Amino acid sequence: MLKLGLVGCGAIAHTHTANIVNHLKGAQITQVYDVFSAAAKKIIRDYKLKAEIAPSIDDLVNSPDVDAILVCSRNDAHVEPILAAIKAHKPVFSEKPLATTLTDCQKIVAAEVKEGQRFVQVGFMRRYDPFYQQLKETIDTGKIGQPLMGYCRHFTAEPATNYFETPNMINDAFIHEIDIIHWLFNDDYNSVQVQFARQNSLNKNENLTDPQIATVKMKHGAIVNTYLTQNAQYGYDVKCQVIGEKGIAELPDMPKLEIHQAGKIYHEIDHDWTYRFAEAYQLEMQDFIDHAQNNEAPAGPTAWDGLIAAVIADNAIKSQSSQQAIKIELPEQPQLYQSK
Ligand SMILES: NC(=O)c1ccc[n+]([C@@H]2O[C@H](COP(=O)([O-])OP(=O)(O)OC[C@H]3O[C@@H](n4cnc5c(N)ncnc54)[C@H](O)[C@@H]3O)[C@@H](O)[C@H]2O)c1
Repeated sequence: MLKLGLVGCGAIAHTHTANIVNHLKGAQITQVYDVFSAAAKKIIRDYKLKAEIAPSIDDLVNSPDVDAILVCSRNDAHVEPILAAIKAHKPVFSEKPLATTLTDCQKIVAAEVKEGQRFVQVGFMRRYDPFYQQLKETIDTGKIGQPLMGYCRHFTAEPATNYFETPNMINDAFIHEIDIIHWLFNDDYNSVQVQFARQNSLNKNENLTDPQIATVKMKHGAIVNTYLTQNAQYGYDVKCQVIGEKGIAELPDMPKLEIHQAGKIYHEIDHDWTYRFAEAYQLEMQDFIDHAQNNEAPAGPTAWDGLIAAVIADNAIKSQSSQQAIKIELPEQPQLYQSK
């Protein structure tokens, strides 16, 4: 049984813990830590965990009762436990984003390069979603020819918090498309541009410009537009369409049962993100557990993928000021990540 130390015990930690306890095989949570100790107590209570509350991140990571670490704390609190885990040579699953600054991402990559081993898996769970997997396979097997253009939609019914601001649209929402687009298109980013469309009068968040359209251009010329809103009102709606040389492949509009009733044919729409990627959350975590149990490096999105996402996100946020396209300069990819 793989013994897991959990850092951060908020909403997504509850999702992962429920999965580990109820659906996944081969792991148990033995230590938890949260700066807010009531959150640590609550997660132990809610899932009847046989776990102790660690006095600090360092104690948790270095405990002989912890084989691998799950980082589910606030965005800006990921770097400390990740670096500690790499130092301790323990596999670490970190929720996205890897870190909030490029400097911190570089520190994480440098730490793995120094140890000559990969320990980190970033929680870009969409790569594990069966529909995204089919989309990737369709592109990779050449069924639609080379991908030329794309359209993504990332809509939520309402802002996640009342302090969700203009840059959060990038770091909390668009970051998922940033990860998925270069993975699907098998290409690097050349530029990113963010523009603001006519503003939604129903948006109540004062410091949030909404909606936004992010355009990325890839090195081989493909262009992908992502429509982003936190004020869709009607529900959580994610779409991805890839247009190739000889066909189109796209996620279904709503992977839901079709209901014929009262003179209508319809699908229900989820209110938030919890359900659409429920299976992906389970698959990513089981994959992390399986590789950790076999003493193998994680197979999921790497620290390098996390760094790429940080570079594009930083430039997308810069582009929010000018609404102009910004050229992307990526640091050189270390050998450690080249076979991935
Ligand atoms: N993959 C996804 O789709 C997805 C979905 C939701 C959240 N997330 C990510 O998961 C992370 C947590 O998000 P959430 O929605 O659970 O937030 P949340 O606010 O519900 O929980 C965060 C928890 O972290 C704790 N915390 C803050 N600073 C800490 C520190 N220094 N050390 C330990 N604990 C600390 C807080 O007390 C809180 O309990 C974020 O990075 C977020 O971006 C990912």
